[in-house]
Amino acid sequence: MKYLLFFCSAAGLLLSGCASVEQSAPPVAQLHAAVPSVCEEGRRIYTTTCTKCHSVEAIRPHSMAEWRGKIMPAMTKKSKITPQQEAAVLAYVEAVISTPAPGKS
Ligand code: HEC
Repeated sequence: MKYLLFFCSAAGLLLSGCASVEQSAPPVAQLHAAVPSVCEEGRRIYTTTCTKCHSVEAIRPHSMAEWRGKIMPAMTKKSKITPQQEAAVLAYVEAVISTPAPGKS
């Protein structure tokens, strides 16, 4: 039993350690998106422009307040995107955060 528990937590660590792009930045089709076209644009920027310095960061661990007040102001400067592109990324992030993760509804 002890070994089984150990195995499960190790497997869990492995899974969260190398989360797929689909987990970190879920496709728009899986989301309750208000304006899907804007969210598609936001996800495209998120998975291309925003990965010049780091991998696809997981969106859900951060709150919307963090995204609006801290992360995007800093990362918009770093990636030199336009205010319109920033708004598209935020629309996508908001759709991700307002959609429960699969299996956690
Ligand atoms: C020029 C390099 C660069 C670009 C481009 C960039 N980032 Fe970052 N990002 C960083 C660095 C460096 C850190 C870690 C240090 C920090 O938080 O400033 C980071 C950290 C993060 C974090 C983790 C923040 C936390 O508090 O844990 C997120 C989320 C993130 N970036 C999202 C984005 C998004 C979204 C974009 C596109 C709009 C983006 N990044 C573009 C350099 C970059």
